[in-house]
Amino acid sequence: MSVAAGPSLEVLPSLEAVAIRGATLLAEALLDPQRPPSGLATGRTMLPLYGALRPLLLADRRFEPSAWRSFNLDEYVGLAPTDCRSFAGYMAAQLGDPLGLAPGRLALPDGLAPDPALEADRYRQALLQAGLGLQLLGLGNNGHVGFNEPPCLPQARCRWVELSAETRRQNAAGFGGDPGAVPPLAITLGLAEILGAQELLLVVTGAAKAQVLRRVLEEPPHGELPASWLQGHGRWRVLCDRDAASALS
Ligand code: GLP
Repeated sequence: MSVAAGPSLEVLPSLEAVAIRGATLLAEALLDPQRPPSGLATGRTMLPLYGALRPLLLADRRFEPSAWRSFNLDEYVGLAPTDCRSFAGYMAAQLGDPLGLAPGRLALPDGLAPDPALEADRYRQALLQAGLGLQLLGLGNNGHVGFNEPPCLPQARCRWVELSAETRRQNAAGFGGDPGAVPPLAITLGLAEILGAQELLLVVTGAAKAQVLRRVLEEPPHGELPASWLQGHGRWRVLCDRDAASALS
């Protein structure tokens, strides 16, 4: 894989500014009928962004709930879509319910599928058939994107994975603060499908992510830092606030 010139990096003055900019870019992708479905992400980083996105979409004449199509990055294995701790539950609360999207419009892997490997293949096929336009991404503290935990190669496909202890700690807040209550397995898009999107939008906020963001942008791509493979994509944009940018050279 050739290494592209680097992302377009936008350092914005505040978390709110990042949310508005990210929401504006995502809204344009979602509202363009010529573009393939967008790829969506979960996590705390996206809460203010989706908060800014909702009024933008609802105020736009082009917004048509019945035309919505999106694919999420990942889902925990073992949680029902109706469980508010699942990513399907998160998406319903953030976008599905407030925007009046019919069930199924926000596609995610099915956390309750009896065979997670088959479910990953099914989800991958559905996504490849539709194509991916703009892929929104957050960044894990250990450099993961989706649930592509280190070590991970850019050829990795949609699959079930074991979550690292660090990721289970990072996501414990949604499970009563107990890392042991975070499901140990998840289904995630691989870097192969993520890198196949037309355009990538990585959103990073907060001082706690400053070091990992510096490494993602400044180290040569390597498997111990899965997000560093994004450097191989010709069209990726990084939005961050000043805190997250504070370690960049
Ligand atoms: C989670 C998700 C990712 C998310 C990332 C960052 O575990 N699987 O899709 O982008 O980690 O999460 P947060 O925004 O809460 O820091």
